[in-house]
Amino acid sequence: MKYAVEAFNLTKAFKGEIDNGERGVVKAVDQVNLKVREGELFGLLGPNGAGKTTLIKILCTIILPSEGTAKVNGYDVLEESEKVRSSFGWFHGETGGRSLYWRLSAEDNLRFYAYLQNVPRDVAEKRIDAFLEFFDLMKDRRKLVKDYSTGMKVKVMLARALLHNPPILFMDEPTIGLDTLSSVETRRLLKTLNTELGKTIIFTSHNMFEVEQLCERVAIMRSGKIIIDSSITTLKDTLRDIRAIEVDIRDSKNPDEIIQRLSQMPMVIKILEIRNRADNLFVRLQVEDEYEAIPQITERLHSFGTKIQSIRQVEPTFEDIFVKLTGKE
Ligand SMILES: Nc1ncnc2c1ncn2[C@@H]1O[C@H](COP(=O)(O)OP(=O)(O)OP(=O)(O)O)[C@@H](O)[C@H]1O
Ligand SMILES: [Mg+2]
Repeated sequence: MKYAVEAFNLTKAFKGEIDNGERGVVKAVDQVNLKVREGELFGLLGPNGAGKTTLIKILCTIILPSEGTAKVNGYDVLEESEKVRSSFGWFHGETGGRSLYWRLSAEDNLRFYAYLQNVPRDVAEKRIDAFLEFFDLMKDRRKLVKDYSTGMKVKVMLARALLHNPPILFMDEPTIGLDTLSSVETRRLLKTLNTELGKTIIFTSHNMFEVEQLCERVAIMRSGKIIIDSSITTLKDTLRDIRAIEVDIRDSKNPDEIIQRLSQMPMVIKILEIRNRADNLFVRLQVEDEYEAIPQITERLHSFGTKIQSIRQVEPTFEDIFVKLTGKE
């Protein structure tokens, strides 16, 4: 089997600030072993500072590893960095489109990057047309990027990452800072690039929901290490087990009755926690389907005249998932 990415004991140590302001060595990436198959849509999840960007940067040959090595598209990041570079497109969302020239049009931006990537001119023109068409930017091709919406800038950045026709895309937090609509659109485009153009996509995110929707496989990083590497089905099962709904109820004169009514609902699996102070009642529940649960619980309590102060779905933390999957604290 051919792998798009293989990492072998990859480690990157930085000198920097460690706990309580002291200086020391931080292992941003710590003995990472990883294999991503060709054609996979692979999600790398983890909290801030987990090492996701550092790992991507090593694979993109932007920084060198301190130990270990990696292969991208079968080429060694240390020995064959030129070939590695022509194998991937890189996209990072954090800059909100700042890696484009705002005073150039979309097509001039793309021409400029095609030139930097040594794409022959006639090939470049054809690809630029094709991508502007693909991303539905044809009619705005001559508009300056500064006048584009955020979603349109994302599309130009994606087109840019694809100009040299790489088989692999590294996407570092592609939806960070985007509004809901642009995030949905970006996820849809990533899916299309994977399914229709066959691109291997490795993308990082803080957002479990996003990874759950998009990926086939997911790895979770913490303190430089990959602590979980699992199929999306396993992750979904785990999430289902630990996702909860929290309800705050005001003026609850009859807490026992409220609890009883809630526990009788078919979709309520378990009442996880009850706190009752003064006239305020707090209930945490495990349910079958969080999206369905919120309106149903609201309706049920309303029909008995119960005043809900707030109701929300609580997302499990990376810590919760880790504990659940490994049984370790
Ligand atoms: N150039 C650097 N010099 C020193 N320390 C660094 C450097 N780059 C990253 N680090 C440290 O390495 C660790 C991992 O950082 P990295 O940016 O890879 O995490 P991340 O998972 O991408 O986080 P985020 O979700 O915030 O983007 C952090 O502790 C960070 O402070
Ligand atoms: Mg990062």
